[in-house]
Amino acid sequence: MANVILSKTIKKYGSIEVIHGIDLKIEDGEFCVFVGPSGCGKSTLLRMISGLENTTSGNIYIGSEDVTNVDASDRGVAMVFQSYALYPHMTVRENMGFGLKMNKTPKDEINEKVNKATEILKLEPYLDRKPKALSGGQRQRVAIGRAIVRGPEVFLFDEPLSNLDAELRLEMRVELARLHKELGTTMIYVTHDQVEAMTLADKIVVLNDGIVEQVGTPMELYSNPKNRFVAGFIGSPAMNFFELTNKNDTLVSNQFPDIALKKINGFSKVTAGIRPNDIKLKKSGNMNIDLIEELGGVTYLYLSGKDNLKLVVEHREKNIPKLNAKVGLKIKEEDLLYFDKETGKRI
Ligand SMILES: Nc1ncnc2c1ncn2[C@@H]1O[C@H](COP(=O)(O)OP(=O)(O)OP(=O)(O)O)[C@@H](O)[C@H]1O
Ligand SMILES: [Mg+2]
Repeated sequence: MANVILSKTIKKYGSIEVIHGIDLKIEDGEFCVFVGPSGCGKSTLLRMISGLENTTSGNIYIGSEDVTNVDASDRGVAMVFQSYALYPHMTVRENMGFGLKMNKTPKDEINEKVNKATEILKLEPYLDRKPKALSGGQRQRVAIGRAIVRGPEVFLFDEPLSNLDAELRLEMRVELARLHKELGTTMIYVTHDQVEAMTLADKIVVLNDGIVEQVGTPMELYSNPKNRFVAGFIGSPAMNFFELTNKNDTLVSNQFPDIALKKINGFSKVTAGIRPNDIKLKKSGNMNIDLIEELGGVTYLYLSGKDNLKLVVEHREKNIPKLNAKVGLKIKEEDLLYFDKETGKRI
């Protein structure tokens, strides 16, 4: 078991810098999730930690050792990819034991470790099958088993569940949570899935364009985002934003003139944010219902209003309004977050 520390880590591909000097500490035993838009550098950072990608400058520490220039195979990490990368001609048992066999580990020890991983992942019935005779979820369990067998100090997962269907994802998500509890090993996990991030993480790192926007527990990021980017990224459906204007030192909303807004001085342009579940409908008003998505327990209403305003409302009541109906919105001031429009920083 080990913590992981990144210190001023930079990655350049040729002359293009994609990771811009990241400082980050992942505690021993922590489940840390990297999220961020496509291309922001999640996989690159994970690969730098694993040693599959070199570090242009800065340092990476695992445990107390500086591993910046240590080979991937000597870092004590095991990586699980989105594509399972199993050897097609080997059985499940052979796939799981292959790394140890290459290390010339004694046969008895390999068997013992494979058996233990098999038990944890409930793979007993499949040990003699080849990967092509397994479902996607079973293959991913073998890939995770192969990582467990190596007894790493840190597990690195790069979107391991994104090839699975919704039901299997849920099942594997629960298994991963259980696995983390059982092994207590440090895990770093990249995902696009909000639910995975929110439910699995002790700590979420929000990345954007090669920098860290914010680090915190899922609820910290949800309730107390530092800036508009994090506010809009964490939470699904995403937070709604609308512009406020400053008239004689008083903020006003053209769209919702009846909200008593907080007094904020010194910012000429302010953006307000509100979560879809904090908005309630009123029978009459000037918002148009453009689209209705009924998911059973919850309905998402996509509304548009004047000045090109577009909002999503999470509606949990039984009576669902009609498409193209006009409705009003109830917004409470205490549910609003305020952001400086220029910098995106939370006010
Ligand atoms: N081998 C490479 N050569 C040049 N640029 C690269 C290379 N690998 C990645 N990049 C660039 O580095 C940036 C970060 O890529 P990375 O794969 O880390 O993104 P990501 O956050 O994992 O995205 P996704 O969510 O789509 O997987 C991207 O702009 C990408 O184009
Ligand atoms: Mg990636």
